[in-house]
Amino acid sequence: MSFLNKVVIITGAGSGIGEGTAVHFATLSANLSLIDKNGESLHKVAEKCGSLSQTKVLEFHADVSNDEEIKQAVDNTMKEFGKIDVVVNCAGIIAYRGILDSDLLSVFDKVISVNLRSMVAMTHFAAPALIESKGCVVNISSVMARMVSKGSLPYNVSKAAVAHFTKNAAYDLAEKGVRVNSILPGPVETNILLSAGNTNEENDKLWELFATAVPLQHNINACEIAEMVAYLASDKAKSITGAEFVVDSGMILSGMPNAPK
Ligand SMILES: NC(=O)c1ccc[n+]([C@@H]2O[C@H](COP(=O)([O-])OP(=O)(O)OC[C@H]3O[C@@H](n4cnc5c(N)ncnc54)[C@H](O)[C@@H]3O)[C@@H](O)[C@H]2O)c1
Repeated sequence: MSFLNKVVIITGAGSGIGEGTAVHFATLSANLSLIDKNGESLHKVAEKCGSLSQTKVLEFHADVSNDEEIKQAVDNTMKEFGKIDVVVNCAGIIAYRGILDSDLLSVFDKVISVNLRSMVAMTHFAAPALIESKGCVVNISSVMARMVSKGSLPYNVSKAAVAHFTKNAAYDLAEKGVRVNSILPGPVETNILLSAGNTNEENDKLWELFATAVPLQHNINACEIAEMVAYLASDKAKSITGAEFVVDSGMILSGMPNAPK
């Protein structure tokens, strides 16, 4: 599989699944436009990608919850590369809130704006270029699109909405030759739990809990998600649109394990 002369935009490229996806596309010779709100980690990933094959890499230190910053990243990618073939909407955050929490509404707005609205905005701004290239979009949802857990209402609702957004956008864009799909990862050991405010100890315990609770008894590596993204972005998936791909070590089969007290 080669993405030579293809242009791939990835949000949340500074860490975890986004980082793994950027590195994977770099090994497949794609030109990259990487976006993250953490400029330092983004720069490290961009340097790593730039050192692999003949990949050209653009860095956008941007907040995907800001429409103007997304639009600028899309416009500058077009200016630099002249086209966009693939959009990977990956940036996302977890916030622990339930229906009874006093600050639920402000946290809900923030999570929705990063996890859902950013994907709508990015797909909207990139759509003309994708129509031109007959390109595609891959959205990173979550197994939580299909399950519930206590005290993670904003995250779980945002991910269910991403899966539904994917289908609606796929239907709108199918006649223009653009495909839109989503991936629902299970536990992938990244920085996401630390960023959500878990301590190092809680972080380690939670990943351990997931690894032992999922039917296949192992967490998932970010590069496995990256390989699924690349497959969906390739011509091999030319007949796939509006679909959801679950990569979860069987987590949906067994359900969400109870967190340690
Ligand atoms: N790790 C998992 O177990 C898991 C499971 C299912 C789904 N996911 C999804 O995968 C995606 C990537 O998560 P991850 O696990 O790699 O997390 P991560 O925390 O390692 O990486 C997320 C990246 O997104 C960036 N980001 C966050 N908010 C942003 C914003 N407003 N603007 C720009 N960049 C922003 C962060 O700086 C970070 O570099 C998320 O959408 C997450 O919901 C993760």
